[in-house]
Amino acid sequence: MPHKVPEPSPTSQPPGALPVPALLDLILDSHHVFARDVLSRMQECAAAIPPADLARDERLPRVLEAVAAVSDEMLTHMHREEAMLFPVLRQIAASGEADAADMEIITPPIECMQREHGLIDELLEYLRLLTGDFQAPEWAAPEHRELLDELAAFAADTAEHVRKENEILFPKALALAWPAGRDPAG
Ligand SMILES: [Fe+2]
Ligand SMILES: [Fe+2]
Repeated sequence: MPHKVPEPSPTSQPPGALPVPALLDLILDSHHVFARDVLSRMQECAAAIPPADLARDERLPRVLEAVAAVSDEMLTHMHREEAMLFPVLRQIAASGEADAADMEIITPPIECMQREHGLIDELLEYLRLLTGDFQAPEWAAPEHRELLDELAAFAADTAEHVRKENEILFPKALALAWPAGRDPAG
């Protein structure tokens, strides 16, 4: 069965109301786990697509190339967040003593993660166009069909994953290091 994009539980707090450490936990436990799971299934499906499908649709080899590219990019990106940026954000949130030096430490990696989000988004948009919004041809083999279903689920979850990071997590993290009211020049 293809993965379904997880629904937020109706009782959970909106992500914007969460402090940075709880927001990091939410992103890791939901989106990072889901992305690894769905990407791994996509790789299995891609490897199992019958040669007849590859011969029949000239776009399919390009789809597989772009799937491999977005998968590599996402896995490396999540590893960078988990190994470098997120632990620093936890430290700053825990210390309660953030200052301009913290700002200098976290700004470049946040900008780097934002650029990577842009690249992932471009690859998914390319795949969306190439596949006519992730629609399998009516003759597609089950693995081919499942790959596109998984890709659609991955694209939908990634949109929300990136939105939580770009629009909620990163602004909150920068506000920790630079609380409102403090004079940036001072
Ligand atoms: Fe992430
Ligand atoms: Fe990210």
